[in-house]
Amino acid sequence: MSKIGPFFNPIQWIKAYKFQKNNAKFDKSTYDLELYLYSKILNNNMLHWGYFQNTNIEPDTISLKMVEEAQIKYAENIIDQISDKKNAVLDVGCGMGGLAELMLKKKLKVEVLTPNRNQIDYITSKFKDISSHNCKFENLESDSKYGTVINSESLQYIKLDDAFKKLETIILPNGKWIVVDYFRLNDNGINKSAHLLDSFKSKLEEYGWNITYERDITANVLPTIAFANLYYNRFLIPIKHYAYEKLRYKKAWLFYLTEKLRVSIDKKIVKENASIDPEQFVNEKKYMFFVLEKN
Ligand SMILES: C[S@@+](CC[C@H](N)C(=O)[O-])C[C@H]1O[C@@H](n2cnc3c(N)ncnc32)[C@H](O)[C@@H]1O
Repeated sequence: MSKIGPFFNPIQWIKAYKFQKNNAKFDKSTYDLELYLYSKILNNNMLHWGYFQNTNIEPDTISLKMVEEAQIKYAENIIDQISDKKNAVLDVGCGMGGLAELMLKKKLKVEVLTPNRNQIDYITSKFKDISSHNCKFENLESDSKYGTVINSESLQYIKLDDAFKKLETIILPNGKWIVVDYFRLNDNGINKSAHLLDSFKSKLEEYGWNITYERDITANVLPTIAFANLYYNRFLIPIKHYAYEKLRYKKAWLFYLTEKLRVSIDKKIVKENASIDPEQFVNEKKYMFFVLEKN
């Protein structure tokens, strides 16, 4: 009775209501649970899919270390495109600062931006002198101008018009905008994260940006996606089944009462899985590497 007591106590219901109200104020960009999870799994402060040179590698031969190496390669590919070594680089949506760290090692002047408080605290405690902006890119207020602006897997979080308008105010003449991210090929997929590639390209024209480098790196990113998919199907799904069944045997009444919760968890899992199913990814998305310059 003591364990189910709260269900029948009106005071607990009022407290639960207040608790629900306070927690509903959650803003994904300031505290992103998925990104927090990945930052605990991977150790090199990078939160992107990485770049595998060997595109034929089998997922069950991939180690976490190999994923981390692929992430370093991805970051190095970005740094290779930075030609202006004099003016500052703005790393928009800098995550845990892995790319910024590599750029600092190469003696580039780096500023980081992320709306996520944990990420900013982590980076500024590690690099005491780094200039940082704890805000959404679209809300950035700065008189500084940058020779290079980077969006490494972060453009998908920003409305395109907002991104283009903000860029106009902060990019130096002849400055470069490096965008590495995945884009949707059409509007039919179940996972709607990412911009439509066609929309992005028409916005480039509309706002007067030239593409000076364009590469489809989907094949190089797929090994990480296949690796994540393998762990998902071989660990996460069986563990979920185990937990549900354990609940059913041990506390059948609670299992019965939480059916709707389980249905919503399962729906969320199906949606998230769509982004790490290699076949679905190839059908619905392209992972692109762009270097852009203003006309
Ligand atoms: C997938 S992570 C990529 C992190 C990092 N660029 C990397 O490659 O490791 C996405 C990043 O975009 C940031 N982000 C989300 N919404 C944003 C916004 N509106 N403006 C700028 N950054 C944003 C997140 O906080 C996170 O740092």
